Amino acid sequence: MSNQPNLKPLYPPHPSQQEPEEESPQIQKTVDALSLLPHPEGGYYVETDRDPLRIPNPFAPTSDTDKDRSASTTIFYLLTPNRSFGAFHRNKGRTVHVWQRGRGRYVIIHADEVEGGKGKARVETFVVGPDVAAGERMQWVVEGGKYKASFLLEDGGSGESKEGLLISEVVVPGFEFADHDFLRREKMEELLTEEQVREMDWMLRV
Ligand code: GUN
Repeated sequence: MSNQPNLKPLYPPHPSQQEPEEESPQIQKTVDALSLLPHPEGGYYVETDRDPLRIPNPFAPTSDTDKDRSASTTIFYLLTPNRSFGAFHRNKGRTVHVWQRGRGRYVIIHADEVEGGKGKARVETFVVGPDVAAGERMQWVVEGGKYKASFLLEDGGSGESKEGLLISEVVVPGFEFADHDFLRREKMEELLTEEQVREMDWMLRV
């Protein structure tokens, strides 16, 4: 198909995700200024707010200690040439994303729409960035139960990303690892066609 979006990485997604090489001075300044840490999904993050208000856990709590959640949490999330993609994962809560700088592509696998959890899922992809006239998004919401991955794109026409992609994310109710899981290859093979798997398996966690 001629108008197929390009799902190839701009920067090679090799195991440098685990042990990042040195970032450029410009990016390192952002990492230091915001006190960002490597995120297990890839990229960097820092939690900037956790609402002290506790609300009942809406996701079928499995134990007494799991009975409530923070009302919301907020993070900065940064992709860089060295940590250039966020691997496919899903959260139970919905996530509101706000663009701050740079460009990237999001890929959403609508696994929650698949009847009985078996069969192929709708895949959606879009670019986030400043060029709203060209259809780039500055705000996007990912509902709970959908697998999400993201990767760094070049700043307009320059062939590279000088500052990385910086966004904010607000998770409601607040983030807990108990509500988070990574997409495994076997599940990806259930949800996608063979061709889609070949195109997207580099976005699985290494
Ligand atoms: N801790 C690890 N990952 C995350 C995340 O995505 N959000 C928040 N708030 N905390 C985290």
